[in-house]
Amino acid sequence: MSATRVLFVCLGNICRSPMAEGVFLGHLQARGLRDRFEVDSAGTGSWHIGEKPDRHTLAVLRCHGIHLDTRARQVRSEDGERFDWILAMDHSNERDVKRVLPAPYHPKVHPVLSIAGGGDVPDPYYGGPEGFDRVYEILEPVLGAWLDRMIEHGG
Ligand code: 4NP
Repeated sequence: MSATRVLFVCLGNICRSPMAEGVFLGHLQARGLRDRFEVDSAGTGSWHIGEKPDRHTLAVLRCHGIHLDTRARQVRSEDGERFDWILAMDHSNERDVKRVLPAPYHPKVHPVLSIAGGGDVPDPYYGGPEGFDRVYEILEPVLGAWLDRMIEHGG
C-alpha cells in the first residue's frame, strides 16, 4: 500500500505548519502508523525559505517529546498532485495555496479547523511564547480527528 501524503500549509512555514507537522507525526508515532504516512509542511510566502522552524515551535514540540528536523519551503504547484490531504492553518492560507495549485486539486485543500467547527489557527509570529503553546493545544485534538478521518477514507 502506498503512503498517504499530508501537507500542512501556513504563511511563513516556520511557526504553525511545522507545529502541525510535528503534532501529526506525534499522533502517527503513538498509533504505530508512521510508516503509512509521508508528512511535510510549506508556506505560501517565501521570506523564510531554508530556515529551521521558529525556536518556540521547536521548544513546544520538544516539551511533548517530538523532534522535528525540517527546513522551510514554499508551496509549489506540483504539491497538488503529490499530496492527498492539504491542510491550511487559516482561510488566507487556504486562498493563497489554491492560487498556486491547479483547480482540479483544490478539493484536497481544507482549513485545518473545518473538522472542529471552523475558524483560523492564530498566527503566533508577532506575539509572545504563550501563543505557541496555544497553537499546540488547538492542533493536538484536531489533528487526532484528521488522522481518524484519513484512516476512514482508507489512508
Ligand atoms: P507562520 O507564521 O505562518 O505560522 O509560519 C509567520 C511566520 C513569518 C511571517 C508571518 C507569519 N512573516 O511575515 O515573516
